[in-house]
Amino acid sequence: RMATLYIPVAVHFDGIGTEADRACLEAYAQTQIDVINEDYTATNADQASLWPAASAFYPGLTPGSMDVQFCIATKNHPAGADPEVAEGSPLVTIGANGSNFNPNFPETDATYAGYMNFIIKDIGPGLLGYSPLNGSIANGAAVVMNTNCYGTGSGCPGVAAPVSPYNLGRTVTHELGHFYNLNHTFIADGDASQCAQPDGDGIADTPKVSSSTYGNPANGSVDGCNAGEKSLTMNYMDYVNDASMYMFTPDQATVVEAYWASVAGDWAF
Ligand code: ARG
Ligand code: ZN
Ligand code: CA
Repeated sequence: RMATLYIPVAVHFDGIGTEADRACLEAYAQTQIDVINEDYTATNADQASLWPAASAFYPGLTPGSMDVQFCIATKNHPAGADPEVAEGSPLVTIGANGSNFNPNFPETDATYAGYMNFIIKDIGPGLLGYSPLNGSIANGAAVVMNTNCYGTGSGCPGVAAPVSPYNLGRTVTHELGHFYNLNHTFIADGDASQCAQPDGDGIADTPKVSSSTYGNPANGSVDGCNAGEKSLTMNYMDYVNDASMYMFTPDQATVVEAYWASVAGDWAF
């Protein structure tokens, strides 16, 4: 097994928050880092408590884990003096300083090439977040989250707390999955014909399903395409509530680690 991969994250509060509340915003930014460190290493407590009962519906399947550690970048910026953040301080940009990204999809900022970028901003009602598939570290690409679904806890002045049922940080777990080349477990939502395809999402150990699932489904309550198979509704790449998604599969972990290998030369450090 390779050494643990350390991923430096720059967090951008785009058009929200003020420098006066930097300490609160840095702590808030960290709440999300804590969640993805657990989710990507399969050390999240809800998996330990919920998966044993659910696993009966998925013979032979175990959760997938990755050898990774996310952290807020604190090293000096390689491009020299960073315009927004003091040298050596956490790379958390705030308010007007957080909005230097190209607003077109996918958001990119050459200043933050070599980092994993998170943008928290108001993207309107009804949308939790979005991400490029196979995101570019070299171009400074970002995963974008709405203000109501980043991190955990009670927010900061000028930055609203995340709102139930998307207040456990799983939107970032999900969007990062897209950045790292994972499709939804239902690749064409609501299209029953995908049951005729060899493998909808290209992932062998996620049961084939034609539709997403929302809410908090009971274990084994949603059928898959193949007789006897159940939808893996608790997978991070479905649409259930944060409290009901708690695992990747081993084959998803393999795809993510292949993505990381493909961008190994692109990190700033
Ligand atoms: N609908 C969004 C997407 O497809 C994110 C869904 C995240 N779900 C969650 N429980 N946080 O990218
Ligand atoms: Zn998605
Ligand atoms: Ca599959």
